Amino acid sequence: MKFKSQRIAYNFFAFSMLLLFLQICYGFIMGFARIGMDGLHEWIPFNVARTTHTNLLVVWLLSGFMGAAYYIIPEESDRELEWPWLAQIQFWSLAVVAVSAVIGFHFGWWEGRKFLEIPRELDYLVVVNVLSFIANLAVTLWKSNRKTTTSGILFFGLLAAALFYLPGMIHDDNQTIDSFWRWWVVHLWVEGVWELIMGGILSFLLIKLTGIDREIIEKWLYVIVGLTFLSGILGIGHHYYFIGTPNYWLWIGGFFSALEPLAFLGMAIFAITMANKGGRNHPNRLALKWSIACSVLSFVGAGFLGFAHTLPQINVWTHGTLVTGMHGHLAFWGAYACLVLAIMAYATPQLTGRKLYTHYLSEFAFWASNIGMVAMTTAMGVAGVAQVVLERRMGMDFLAVQTEIEPHFIGFLLAACLFLSGILAYIYMFIKSGLPRQTVGEIYE
Ligand code: HEM
Ligand code: HEM
Ligand SMILES: [Fe+2]
Repeated sequence: MKFKSQRIAYNFFAFSMLLLFLQICYGFIMGFARIGMDGLHEWIPFNVARTTHTNLLVVWLLSGFMGAAYYIIPEESDRELEWPWLAQIQFWSLAVVAVSAVIGFHFGWWEGRKFLEIPRELDYLVVVNVLSFIANLAVTLWKSNRKTTTSGILFFGLLAAALFYLPGMIHDDNQTIDSFWRWWVVHLWVEGVWELIMGGILSFLLIKLTGIDREIIEKWLYVIVGLTFLSGILGIGHHYYFIGTPNYWLWIGGFFSALEPLAFLGMAIFAITMANKGGRNHPNRLALKWSIACSVLSFVGAGFLGFAHTLPQINVWTHGTLVTGMHGHLAFWGAYACLVLAIMAYATPQLTGRKLYTHYLSEFAFWASNIGMVAMTTAMGVAGVAQVVLERRMGMDFLAVQTEIEPHFIGFLLAACLFLSGILAYIYMFIKSGLPRQTVGEIYE
């Protein structure tokens, strides 16, 4: 690392890994419940496990993005973070809010809107927390003499993500209106502004890992941002098909969301081309592998599997089934989980001074978690298609269908064990890398 203040990134990464582990525990609780082994039901019923699982996901990704920003912004702007002490306070307050929310869910303290369950009181704390995070980065960038496209797009993505948190706080007793605003957060995050964060972090990684000129990499970044805005904003219509909004959304949503895979395809071609062209042989091949996995699996999970159910003629059958769950797993994994694991794979050796990227367990972590997640997605997809046919086409009773598809969840759980072994290896290697160094200085450029 070049600057002392970059060390704060380590806290966010460590917290991120802790929450990832917890998220998986709740995934297993649901997976076992799905095959009839629901022993914890009295304390952790399915809906509580589901809420905790998805909210932990969002928080560990956000924590990872924050760590990434605290690492990248000082380096790109060539100066220390403006207020390192504020970043420390922001870290601890994030931890307090996240832990309170998770405990609260188990006692029914929530709002009950999928993905935005965090209770209103904590929402206000989140806003203050994120404001201090954004302000710290903004002043650091403002005072710097070196303003790069990469840091600009990363910052703009984070700022926009913060702003798009606000529509989620609009409450309405009308279910349609309430749902309308909920999608401004959920959709415009993952299929809009988070893609800018993804573009920014990937571009930083590719500049460092391939040695290709910044100008070339950043030109691609503009193309990807353009494609994202063109398709992602009106693509929100694919959530307005059947919730009580006007019919024109069928056309708007269908057309624009069908273009969304282009942005992810662009990202994949971009990363692969840069990696192939890169003349410099950077020793950290592992971080490059995670970057490529991110771009490729986000295309498969978000682009391809998203497209699979985005047209209204198909979505009318698949809406709200396990087909959605299948897509949700690989899209989140490819685009955002792999992204956080990629920047961590790059930054951890720089922060701690220990290079464990050639260790066989680091390699195992990569393959086991990725193959495990692809297999989990496949199992859930098969369950989802069976569900659609039995329940929606043949008219079988909802609960009878759930019993019918149980066997697919045995396969799902087996795949989940492989996935878990990979994640445990990743976390073990992260811990083995030790704490961040006190002194600055890079291992390599
Ligand atoms: C061993 C690991 C995991 C297991 C066993 C697991 C299991 C599950 C189960 C059973 C559900 C509920 C599906 C339903 O019945 O409605 C679920 C939902 C979900 N999981 Fe996981 N999961 C795991 C890891 C992950 C990871 C790593 C991610 C993200 C990268 C993830 C993202 C999601 C999302 C987004 C949903 C909600 C999908 C929707 O809205 O329909 N899960 N998970
Ligand atoms: C990285 C990007 C993406 C992520 C993380 C993601 C994740 C998710 C999740 C978690 C849901 C369930 C949301 C809920 O019910 O509250 C969902 C729904 C959906 N996604 Fe994505 N998605 C991404 C990109 C895309 C793309 C590019 C498309 C289309 C090409 C797409 C099409 C859809 C559709 C149609 C639904 C609604 C499913 C239903 O009706 O139940 N997604 N997505
Ligand atoms: Fe969407």
